[in-house]
Amino acid sequence: MPEVTRLLAALANAPGPSGFEGPVRALLREELRPHATEVTTDGLGSLVARLGAPPGDGVPRVMLSAHMDELGLLVRRVTPEGFLKFQTLGGWLDQALINQRWTVLTRGGPVPGVSGIKTVHVMTPEARGRVFARDELFLDVGAANAEDATERLQVRPGDPVVPDSPFQELAGGRLYLGKAWDDRVGCGALVGVARALAEAALPATVFAVGTVQEEVGLRGAETASRQVRPDIGINLESGVAGDYPGITADEAQERLGAGPAVFLHDSSMLPNLALRDLCIEVAREAEVPLQFNVLTGYGQDGAAMQRHGAGTPTINIAVPTRYLHSHHGVISRDDFDHAVRLVAALVRRLDAPTVARVRAFD
Ligand code: CO
Repeated sequence: MPEVTRLLAALANAPGPSGFEGPVRALLREELRPHATEVTTDGLGSLVARLGAPPGDGVPRVMLSAHMDELGLLVRRVTPEGFLKFQTLGGWLDQALINQRWTVLTRGGPVPGVSGIKTVHVMTPEARGRVFARDELFLDVGAANAEDATERLQVRPGDPVVPDSPFQELAGGRLYLGKAWDDRVGCGALVGVARALAEAALPATVFAVGTVQEEVGLRGAETASRQVRPDIGINLESGVAGDYPGITADEAQERLGAGPAVFLHDSSMLPNLALRDLCIEVAREAEVPLQFNVLTGYGQDGAAMQRHGAGTPTINIAVPTRYLHSHHGVISRDDFDHAVRLVAALVRRLDAPTVARVRAFD
């Protein structure tokens, strides 16, 4: 498997539900360290890798962020029969939770399980068309009873649970299928950009940040921003592809294979338009296709960066993704490569006069 594919596969496969991002952090640390002057963590667990120009008066501070966490579950309690009832972490659809494979991350190691579905043979015709509500669901780890689950399998309340859905190439390697592209594709782009920027001197101090707990309310980006104190924020996310049956162009405008997307509206943030225009200019120069997305829902870490201090000009750049917030997402390798090229070129342009111009409101 080629190197970049292997990196994206490793990032997608790494277990890291919100609040339990350890394996992703370890992977990112290993990948960013060779390009960074300093790698630290904040008090919530976000990873901050500093590269580029040494910090100093008049040197812009650019924060690139991608969240390390993914949607998951957390064990609420073990029933006397040995089944696990759970709390969801992040914005799940009820119908995406059922009939899937999961891994419970216990202190004794990973324990596989399944969110069983009631068999059709005992259902009324009405029940067959019904969505199963999350409160009715449970995980079956094969335990004989509660003691078997807690003693032999070492399951404890509070243990995180992650989707089991290994990386796979689609369409001969043009598309990648996997869990957690939201936002491991952004984490991959963070590494790609750090590699691309390592070659030459930069006009800014760049902080490549893997944030924690985005899916439960942009919590990590808030604390990491306090540590980094950015002048400009660039968030790298999984975008919302609208190119499959059942979704309209007014709901989402991105298409797989048509390049990275700049978000122009989501329910958490409005981007800085000077940054949008700079993105368009840089994309043209770098010959990177660019698209836009106007969403009514969605939230992303850019919103936390943007509100940092007295306000930070911020933009969200996304790699189009199908089927977000489920076990199986699909991205395009071309879009990923183009996103890396665009963001690296954008960062190279962020010298002091450009940053001053973006931050000026005359
Ligand atoms: Co996300």
